[in-house]
Amino acid sequence: MYDQFSTMLAVLAALVAGLWAWRRWHYPSFWLLVGFPLTAISVRATWRKVALGCNLTKKRQRFWFTTVPGMIASTGVVRVKRKFQRIAVDTKPFMWLPLPTRYGWRVTLHTLEGQIPADYADVAERLAHSWGVHAVRVSSDKPGRIRLAVTIRDPLVKVDDLPPSTELLKVTVGRLETGKPWVVDFRTVPHWLNAGATQSGKSNLANALIVGLAPQPVALVGFDLKGGVEFTPYSPRLSALATSRAECGGLLDDLVALMTDRMGVCRMASARNIWQLPPTMRPVPVVVLVDELAELYLMADKSEKDEIAKTSTALLRVAQLGRAFGIYLFCCGQRIGSDLGPGVTALRAQCSGRICHRVNDPETATMTLGDLDPAALDSARTIAAETPGVAIVASQDGQWYRARSFYVSEQAAEHAAHIYADRAPAWAEVMTAQPHETPDSQTA
Ligand SMILES: Nc1ncnc2c1ncn2[C@@H]1O[C@H](COP(=O)(O)OP(=O)(O)OP(=O)(O)O)[C@@H](O)[C@H]1O
Ligand SMILES: [Mg+2]
Repeated sequence: MYDQFSTMLAVLAALVAGLWAWRRWHYPSFWLLVGFPLTAISVRATWRKVALGCNLTKKRQRFWFTTVPGMIASTGVVRVKRKFQRIAVDTKPFMWLPLPTRYGWRVTLHTLEGQIPADYADVAERLAHSWGVHAVRVSSDKPGRIRLAVTIRDPLVKVDDLPPSTELLKVTVGRLETGKPWVVDFRTVPHWLNAGATQSGKSNLANALIVGLAPQPVALVGFDLKGGVEFTPYSPRLSALATSRAECGGLLDDLVALMTDRMGVCRMASARNIWQLPPTMRPVPVVVLVDELAELYLMADKSEKDEIAKTSTALLRVAQLGRAFGIYLFCCGQRIGSDLGPGVTALRAQCSGRICHRVNDPETATMTLGDLDPAALDSARTIAAETPGVAIVASQDGQWYRARSFYVSEQAAEHAAHIYADRAPAWAEVMTAQPHETPDSQTA
């Protein structure tokens, strides 16, 4: 007996140790074959209780046979009566089978009558606590259906590099919380706002863009209103760099003139934008990186008013018309608020790409993310200082995601700027609207 017991204990210990080793050695297969099936069973088994606790159930009338105590018959046997009764029961939303994902699982639910996705979004945090997971995100792709995406642990604590994108004007800058690549695609979303408090990871993201765009046939232009300390090391790959407001004004005038030239070229060729021009006529795309946008708008005294108004109008024109003529903006700033003037509000309206890193005040998050889901604003406010590079991204699919950029040091960006220095077209060459050879594979 004692021998059997000790053998069983030894087998159990070996099993636990084996599972532990498997989990450490190859977590994805362990999750798929052991962790996920157990989780799915427990989620299905406890769904009624969880839905009830999160106020997702509805009372419904059901007809039921119930037993009621009857009379004692003459034989002395108690006769039990069955009665057809109407009783109220709690009905839970129907849950399909959960499916495993890289960082957790997802499941589809059918809403009960009168429920909308916001009812589920409101209780997402309660669901996360009930299931003991990092986060539950709610989306709905069909009326009456809700998809819950569950992440077990924060996947953004550490993000591994992904292979770089090979498509023109597309850069993989990090990972979304879903595990998918975070891509900044200027062809789809031409202008971007990148906001965040100091040390939140804005420049790191700009570095990632420089590393990704440096090998591509594009002209890079820097507006560095921190006196050039950020972008000067990358000047070998930049076609132009402005480090003061006066220089920015001059460079913006150049960009407006360039746009006017390109408009003429497109009009002559009956093209609506440069991408409809034949490759031999197509001018080089220009990506403008702006660091510390607010400096363009801050006024020390009234004498600067005209200069600021001029700069602001030129930048707005670039934002309004640049897309068709291959000029794209990526504006970084600690504050992108309406207190900087109406120019900023108008510019913000033109920038459909929104990235909000950790912010100091809720107002900046609101201004950057605009009228996105309020849950996106809450999520932006809870980004921890210990995870620089984490941001809320308004994506091109109309959803918002938590994401984290890959760590790209200044040295890595500087190295890329040096090795691809020969791919930087001279500014004079860009200004004369010289066509640039863009491989057809990169223009689709
Ligand atoms: N994705 C990331 N992963 C790991 N560390 C990061 C990441 N992004 C930024 N960091 C770290 O955070 C520090 C601050 O980042 P960064 O310089 O990009 O901030 P910033 O928002 O540009 O700040 P500032 O407004 O002061 O210029 C960097 O030195 C870097 O070490
Ligand atoms: Mg910075």
